[in-house]
Amino acid sequence: MKVLVLGASGFVGSFLEGKLEADGASRSIYGRDPVIDVTSADGINAFFAKRRYGTVINCTGFTNVDGCEADPERADLLNAKSIEFLANAATSNGFKFIHISTDYVFDGRTGRYAETDKPNPINVYGKTKLRGESFLDMGRDLILRISTPFGQNVSRRKKTFLEFVRESLEAGQKIKVVTDQYTTPTSLEDIATFVKAAIKMDLSGIYHLGVQERVSRYEFAIAVAKRWGLDQKLIERSRLSDLKFAAQRPMDTSFNLYKAGRAIRISHLEDALARL
Ligand SMILES: NC(=O)c1ccc[n+]([C@@H]2O[C@H](COP(=O)([O-])OP(=O)(O)OC[C@H]3O[C@@H](n4cnc5c(N)ncnc54)[C@H](OP(=O)(O)O)[C@@H]3O)[C@@H](O)[C@H]2O)c1
Repeated sequence: MKVLVLGASGFVGSFLEGKLEADGASRSIYGRDPVIDVTSADGINAFFAKRRYGTVINCTGFTNVDGCEADPERADLLNAKSIEFLANAATSNGFKFIHISTDYVFDGRTGRYAETDKPNPINVYGKTKLRGESFLDMGRDLILRISTPFGQNVSRRKKTFLEFVRESLEAGQKIKVVTDQYTTPTSLEDIATFVKAAIKMDLSGIYHLGVQERVSRYEFAIAVAKRWGLDQKLIERSRLSDLKFAAQRPMDTSFNLYKAGRAIRISHLEDALARL
């Protein structure tokens, strides 16, 4: 069975593709070469007319949260409309569609969200990602919601929160980090482990994935400092209301991990950081 990773030049996609390729136990073939524009239905159809895949994993998206607020049309095209095109292609071509989505589909008022909890996004990014999810066939496809992904940055296209913290502290620079925004950050290694398990077990439906711990950004930064023996005193506390973002941020989008925990062994934050 062939598996295709779309968005393999991005942060999540490049890591995932590398892990799938390195999986010696599998006889699958993973493709980086086919570059398709997911915003073109004709392009998608022409692409799949010539190639057969058992599974397509979609790691594309317009992921700049403030950028989405500034350009809602582009956000809708990349995060929603393109998912409709891909889901239609899955139906016509008979592949399983695994789509990466986000904790930002929730409003962040309660935290520890389960897959059955009702989404209520509060910014354009979250709204368009939720609309994208609506096109998938939940009897066949899988939506994997992740949060603040961290791990080896293969593509190095953008700096992740972990790299921002680590590089700033290594340079002796003070940073301000919020104490009142909570998530369960997702380890890239766990994403790869989960996706492999999902393909093997033919899982479908919605799954939430993050590390076991619900942490504030500040606590995450402290964990990064500890891992690399950096000066924690350089990390100053701030609050979300002190930062002026174009898009509103949800306060607590941590996940309930019970469902994903039945498929894989989910990492603790400290262990996931230690492996890097
Ligand atoms: N990063 C996060 O904090 C985070 C959090 C929660 C969920 N997620 C979700 O995880 C997924 C991956 O995120 P990421 O951080 O890895 O994103 P990323 O680094 O921004 O990568 C986005 C990918 O989408 C591709 N892409 C953009 N426009 C395209 C188009 N028209 N046609 C085909 N490909 C296109 C990009 O290709 P080019 O390089 O050619 O532009 C790139 O490979 C996204 O769906 C995102 O919503 C991310």
